[in-house]
Parts: sequence; structure tokens; C-alpha cells
Amino acid sequence: MKLKIIMLAVMCIGVMHLSAQQLPVYLDETKPIEQRIEDALSRMTLEEKVAMCHAQSKFSSAGVSRLGIPENWMTDGPHGIRAEVFWDEWNQAGWTNDSCIAFPALTCLAATWSTDMSLLYGKVIGEEARYRNKNVLLGPGVNIYRTPLNGRNFEYMGEDPFLTSKMVVPYIHGVQANGVAACVKHFALNNQEIDRHTVNVNVDDRTLYEIYLPAFKAAVQEGQAWAIMGAYNKYKGEWACHNQYLLNDILRGEWGFDGVVVSDWGGVNNTMQSIYNGLDMEFGTWTDGLTDGISNAYDNYYLSKSFLKLLKSGEVKEEVVDKKVRNILRLAFRSTMNTKRPWGSFGTQEHALAGRKIAEEGIVLLQNKNNVLPIDLAEVKKVAVIGENAIKVMTVGGGSSSLKAKYEVSPLEGIKNRIGSQAEVIYARGYAGEKSGAQDGLGTGQDISDNRSEAELIVEAVKVAKEADVVIFVGGLNKNDGQDCEGNDRSSLGLPYGQDKVIAELAKANKNLVVVNISGNAVAMPWVNEVPAIMQVWYLGTEAGNAIASILVGDANPSGKLPFTFPVKLEDNGAHKLGEYPGNGEETYNEGIFVGYRWTEKEKIKPLFAFGHGLSYTTFSYGKVVADKKEMTVSDKISFTVNIKNTGNREGSEIVQLYISDLKSSVVRPVKELKGFQKVSLKPGEEKAVTIIIDKAALSFFDADKHDWVAESGDFEALIGASSSDIKAKTGFSLR
Ligand code: BGC
Repeated sequence: MKLKIIMLAVMCIGVMHLSAQQLPVYLDETKPIEQRIEDALSRMTLEEKVAMCHAQSKFSSAGVSRLGIPENWMTDGPHGIRAEVFWDEWNQAGWTNDSCIAFPALTCLAATWSTDMSLLYGKVIGEEARYRNKNVLLGPGVNIYRTPLNGRNFEYMGEDPFLTSKMVVPYIHGVQANGVAACVKHFALNNQEIDRHTVNVNVDDRTLYEIYLPAFKAAVQEGQAWAIMGAYNKYKGEWACHNQYLLNDILRGEWGFDGVVVSDWGGVNNTMQSIYNGLDMEFGTWTDGLTDGISNAYDNYYLSKSFLKLLKSGEVKEEVVDKKVRNILRLAFRSTMNTKRPWGSFGTQEHALAGRKIAEEGIVLLQNKNNVLPIDLAEVKKVAVIGENAIKVMTVGGGSSSLKAKYEVSPLEGIKNRIGSQAEVIYARGYAGEKSGAQDGLGTGQDISDNRSEAELIVEAVKVAKEADVVIFVGGLNKNDGQDCEGNDRSSLGLPYGQDKVIAELAKANKNLVVVNISGNAVAMPWVNEVPAIMQVWYLGTEAGNAIASILVGDANPSGKLPFTFPVKLEDNGAHKLGEYPGNGEETYNEGIFVGYRWTEKEKIKPLFAFGHGLSYTTFSYGKVVADKKEMTVSDKISFTVNIKNTGNREGSEIVQLYISDLKSSVVRPVKELKGFQKVSLKPGEEKAVTIIIDKAALSFFDADKHDWVAESGDFEALIGASSSDIKAKTGFSLR
């Protein structure tokens, strides 16, 4: 018996050995990826290599079917998995099983200031992508919020490079744990939508490295992102999708990026640059797919037939295409050819609830005078909900992030769901914006056209407001063109559709007014002193209404903080004050590093609401900040500890922020800069010590002449705040 078992074992080992031997190296998952890449590459023809470097449909590119290397399938991103479109059209393919969970916009995620929420977000959206068999998620977006007019700010993570860097990393980890690449976009300097295809951005090196690059660098080095998308705009006269400086020198040269560079859709404009300047895969070039006389439009891409011709003639060396294909194969081995990756899941309740949790943590309570919020259901018997955004579908529209959501709870529905059995909920329209727009053949399924005049709508709203104990105005921007929408910027900071007038009238009609501003951008609030309570609510996706209602009644205690500054007026923003926005083909970032709070603090401008601001239904007290040393060296770390106590009677979370101020420097520096934060949850009466550790990176500026980061010795201050404008404690220290 024993002998039989031994013989069987020997046979098994023999068979295993044989099959391992027969398996080509590139298919052998026990072999290092780099070895597998070389093996696969050595088996490919020139035609197969070139085919991998460009799209074959709107969202896919070829694999090598002969070798069992699958196609690549991309999807937007970044707030949910885009519905299937036709092979060669933007229009919906009409599938009935592609309705996703719409997650909150990335502005909301940034407003949570919670790396746990970011990891959760990445995990659930990654699972949705994986289930739909996509191996590249086109997101997250980390372009810096330079102007409140940028139509795509809602897809990004705010104005601060440190906050954005910290928030992007867990998202990437969460996505990629599913064997799906996060494609971080748009690299780089895509900070406006006006003229996005043509504008040449002039920015000095210090500003580039201190403000616009850190989030991408963190995505590459800490997040280990497998893909990067180039931007539409130009930098140093070259389009960012094939840019020697951004892609070859910085991304690959300085940061050691080993993933794949994907063009933005139609972002490629030049054959030789697309060949030599760091691009690997070309997508969406504007050939319409069906231009007369062209049998296959994709053959006409810059990295298609003409590339092949240059390779065949020897004008371009084969090693040039090999370099690209290596990166594309690396993507395959990390995603589609990883047999151990999980299967994903789609449209689940678990995902919807994850979205709701993120939404609840990201809503920002901007103002709450007279404790109008939370709504006390023991006292309040009639609630008036007023405003178009209370009923408008928000997941459809906005450009490439538009979603076909499995369901979407509107604010009005959410409020009715939550309080309808305890109080009467009455509704009035208040104002009428544009009709709900369809996008890519996907309608909103609602007709909210209203032909009444502005005056009639206001009369009705005021009447309804007067009848109620509390009035909740739900307005803001929407996803229509010229609002928070790709392809265009906003034309002003003010709210559209005459909402300011409606709000002013409501404030006169009822003193218990709550304004719920839905937007991904700062808006002007000329009525700020007339309105007791204001909530900043982002595009929250599937569970929007339920999340809003739970904050309104206090089931969830608000704990979000602003990831960008709300200026009183446009001129309080550096890009606008210094006059170059939106540029005229050329655009110089004259404000330099002074973006957001760095600008308002330098100019001593009081913002409407400061970066990092956000209230809670409870209160917190801050103790003294204690450093573990008074003096540090460039190789040290230094820690700052502060005790935070919940002094109210509700459980709540506070976001403790650490800013560093350089007291004397050889260069002009911001008054202070965010260099650490921690979200801490506290029960009533509970106290916790929060410790934030920094090293010399937090003290450094980018020295353009040395082309390096420099921490100058001297005195610094560590400031602990509840926002950038609400500093609670500080301590000095020095760098030797
Ligand atoms: C956008 C990208 C998007 C791509 C594909 C482009 O217009 O700029 O962010 O991923 O389209 O839809």
C-alpha cells in the first residue's frame, strides 16, 4: 500500500513537472512577470505588436488571440461603471444588465478626508468593473482644483496636493486588488475644460512639482497604479498625451512608472511624438469610425497603419514598439492573465450601502445657526422641500462620468422615506432649470419641464415655505452643459436659474431655512447671512437622497470637510485675479503655487468657507499640541500629539489637520500648508490623543535650479486646526 502511494506521488510529480515544462514561459504564473513579458514579446509579429498600441473599438484594444492574450477593455470611471456603448459609437448599446451602482463623485470622497473611505470606494468600484469584465478603470481623476469654474472639478479631489495624494492611493489599491487597473487621469495640467484640446499651459517648475504633480507621483509610487491617462492640453508646446517632459522625463524617468500610458480619447495629434514621447496606447482619435472610404477607421490612428509602415521600412526601430508592448503586456499579466484575480460583483446592496456610507461621511455642514439642524422630529410636523435638485436625476449627464444607475434616490424621495411617517412633506419647484438632458442615448426617464414663470414659481414656493416648520431648499448646480459637466466650464460663480432670488425670498418667509447645495464646485452665496443652515452636498449617486436625509435628521452626524476653498467672489481666486484664465491658446499660471487657500492666505482674503471647514452636530475641544522633540534633522521624523475631546452629547468624528509654516525661508512660501490629517471618531465625553508624524518632506519646497526638494534649516511651526482658518493649537520646532 505504502509503495503504491509513493509510486502515485512520483507519477504525479512527474506529470506536474512535464506540464510545467510544456507551459510556455509567458503563461507560467510561477515565473517573474518580466520574464513572461520577454517570452510573449518574442512570439509576436510586428502586426500583432502594433495592433496592441491602438484602439479597436470605442473602449477596447486588441490582445493576441493566437497566444491566448486577451483584449483590453476600458471603462469610465471614476464614479461607477459606464453602460455598454456600441462597438464604434458613443450611443448606448441597450444592454439590460449593465445598470451600475453610482457612487458619490470624487469631490465627495475627498471631503470625507478618510483613507478608509477611499479604500472602500476603490474596492467596490473595482468589484463592479471586474464583474463587467473590464480590466482598466478610467479613473480616479486627480487634477488640482485651480478655478471654481472648471466643469470637471466634481470628478477630482480638490485643491490641495497633500490631501489629494493621500486620498488617491487607497482608491488605487482597492481597485487593483480586483485585478483591474486604475488609470489615473489626466496627466497633467488639465485644469479647465475651455479649450482643453488646444491650450498650452505655461507653469514654472516649482509650481508644477509642488502643486500639480504630487497626486500623480503618489499614485505611481505609493499607489503603484498600473495605468496613467494623458491629458488633452499641451505643456511646453507638446500635447500631454505624447509629451517628452511629462511622460519620458518625469513619469518614467524620475518616478520609475512601469505601467501603461493610455491617451485620452482623441488626445493624440502627432505621429512622431506619439511614437517617441512615452505613449503606449492610443484611444478615441476622432475618425468617427465610419469616415467615407475608410474600411476600418482604427487603421488610421497615429499608432496604427502609419506606425507599422515606419517600422517595416526601418525608419522606426522595432525596439520602439517593443517598449510600448512590454508595458501593455505588463498590464495583461497584472489583470486579465492573472488567474487568481477575484470575480467581482455588480449592482449589489453591499455596494449601494458602501456608496451611502461614503456619501454620509462626505457631506459638509457649512453653517448651522440656531441649531436649525438636525431636524427635531418631535417638534417638526411639516417640512417643505423646495428646489429642482430635490427631484432631478443627477447620475445621467456631466460627460464621460455619466452613469446608467440601477436606481437613484432623489433628495425628495430620501426625505419622504425617512420622515414621511412622522411629518408631512410638501414640495414646491422654486425654480426651473434646463430640461433633464439625455446623454449618449441614455435618458433620465423623467420629464421635469415646467413652463411657469419665475415669479409664479417663487409665489408658490413662498406660500409652501410659510406653511412649514422647516424649509429645505435643494438647489445648486447640475450636470448640464456649462454647469458641472465635461467639455465646458461654468460662466460664473453664481448659482444658475435665478436661485439666489428664490433663496432670499424663502429666507424672508421662514426663519428655519436649510440650503442644501448640490455641486462639485464652490458657488457664490450672496444670501449667506440670511440663511441659518447650509449643507454642501455633492453628487452622491444611487443612495443620494437617503444619505442627505440621514444627515438632515441626525441619524448620521456630519463629518465632512471642504477639499477646496469657497471664495466670496471669483476675483478672490488667484487664477482669476491674475487674469490669465482661460487663456488664449497660451495660458500662464501666474498665481504659481498660490492655489486655493495658499492664495487667500497670502492675500489676506477672508473666504466664504475655508479649505478644511466643516461642522458637526457635536462639539470638540482641542488640547495643547506637544512635539516629541524641539529640534530635528533631515533624517529624523517628528511627531505632534494633541488631545481631542467630544464636548457635546452626540457621537461624532473630527478631522484634525496639521499645517506647517516655514518661519524663514530663502524663497516665498505659503503662509502654511497641509501636511497631515486624521479623522477621529469620538463618543460623547470621550477624549483621544491624535498623533501625526512628519519628516523632512513636509518641510521642503521644490528648488527649480537644483531640480530637487530642499528642506532649509531654521524654525518652523506646526499648527493644528479644525480647518485652514481655525487653528486651535501650535508649537514651534526647528530643523538643524
Ligand atoms: C475624458 C476621459 C474619459 C474618456 C473616455 C474623455 O473625453 O476626458 O476622462 O475617460 O473620454 O470616455
